[in-house]
Amino acid sequence: MKINLTKIKKAKKFLIKSECVAIPTETVYGLAGNAYSDLACKKIYSLKKRPRINPLIVHYYDYKNLKKDCNFNNDFLKLYKKFCPGPITFILDLKKNSKISKIATNYNESLAVRFPKHPITRNLLKELKFPLAAPSANLSSKVSAVSSADVKDDFGKKIKYVLDGGRSSIGLESTIIDVRKKPKILRLGGLEISSIQKILKKKIMINHLQTKISTPGQSKLHYSPGIPVRLNVKKTKKEEALILLKKTKKNKPNCYFLSKKGNLKEAARNLYSTLRKIKKDNYKSIAVAKISNEGLGKTINDRLKRASKL
Ligand code: TXA
Ligand code: MG
Repeated sequence: MKINLTKIKKAKKFLIKSECVAIPTETVYGLAGNAYSDLACKKIYSLKKRPRINPLIVHYYDYKNLKKDCNFNNDFLKLYKKFCPGPITFILDLKKNSKISKIATNYNESLAVRFPKHPITRNLLKELKFPLAAPSANLSSKVSAVSSADVKDDFGKKIKYVLDGGRSSIGLESTIIDVRKKPKILRLGGLEISSIQKILKKKIMINHLQTKISTPGQSKLHYSPGIPVRLNVKKTKKEEALILLKKTKKNKPNCYFLSKKGNLKEAARNLYSTLRKIKKDNYKSIAVAKISNEGLGKTINDRLKRASKL
C-alpha cells in the first residue's frame, strides 16, 4: 500500500485541533478524534448520533503507548504478541491518572483498546502524541463503512477529512474480549474465537447478553441497511433482493453473492458493501439464504441477525 505522507499530515492537523477525521482500518473505517480531548469525543458522538452510554474504542500504535492509560495482565500480553496489530479489541482497567476523556469512556473504569493494522492509520498513530477514539464511521445503528465512499455516503461534508486507505481487507469489526478477569468475548468479530483459544489455552466465555457496562453493539437493531432483512430464506418475495454465500449458475438480477466459491473470508469482506449496494439498488427488503455457522460465518450470522431485528 502506497502511503501518502501529505494526506497523513493533513489528518494530523485536524486531529490536533480536536476535529474528527475518518480513518481506514483493516476491519472497518473509524471516525477518529483525540481520545484525550473531551471536545473531540463529544463531536464523535454527535456526528454519529450515538448515545453517550455507548463508550468509544481507543486506538493505539503499540502497547508502550498504552502503559500510561491502562493496566494489563498476562492474557493481554499473550494475545497482543500474537494478534496485534490486528482485529482484536481488549477491555482493560483504566489507570486512575489516565488522561483518556471521561466522555470517551462514559465515566466507566474500563477502556476498550485496539491496535489497528492498516499501514496508513499506523503511520498516523505513530505521528500523534495522543491515542485515537474511533467508533465505526457510520451513523449509529446502521451498517459500518468499509470504504471512504461509504463514509461520505453517511456523513457528506460533516466530517472534516476522510483519510482514504482503500477497502477494508477484513470487512467486519474487531473481536472484543474482556481480559480483566476470566476471558470473555463481548462481540464476535474478524478474529475467530478458536484462534484466541489456541493462545490462551483456557476456557473462554461468550457473553451475548447485555452487561451493565454495556456493549450496545450487542443488542437490538444494529448494522441495519435501513430496509428489512429476513434470514434463512428459501423463497424470495416481490421486490426483495437475495443474498447468497456462493455464486450459483442461476444468475437472477435480484441475486447478490458474497463470494465466488463460498469462501467465508471473502464473504466477510463483501458483506457490508453488499447490504449498502442492495439499498442503493432500491430493493424494499433483503432475504438471506442460510450461511454456514463456522469460523467467520458465526460473525457474519451475528451481524445479519442483528440487522434483521426491526
Ligand atoms: O473494528 C473495530 O472495532 C472498529 C474499528 C474502527 O476499530 N470499531 C468499532 O467501534 O467497531 P464501535 O464503537 O462501532 O464498536 C465498539 C463496541 C461498542 O459496541 C461499545 O459499546 C463497546 O465496543 N465498548 C466500548 N468500550 C467498552 C467497554 N469499556 N466495555 C465494554 N464494551 C465497550
Ligand atoms: Mg459500530
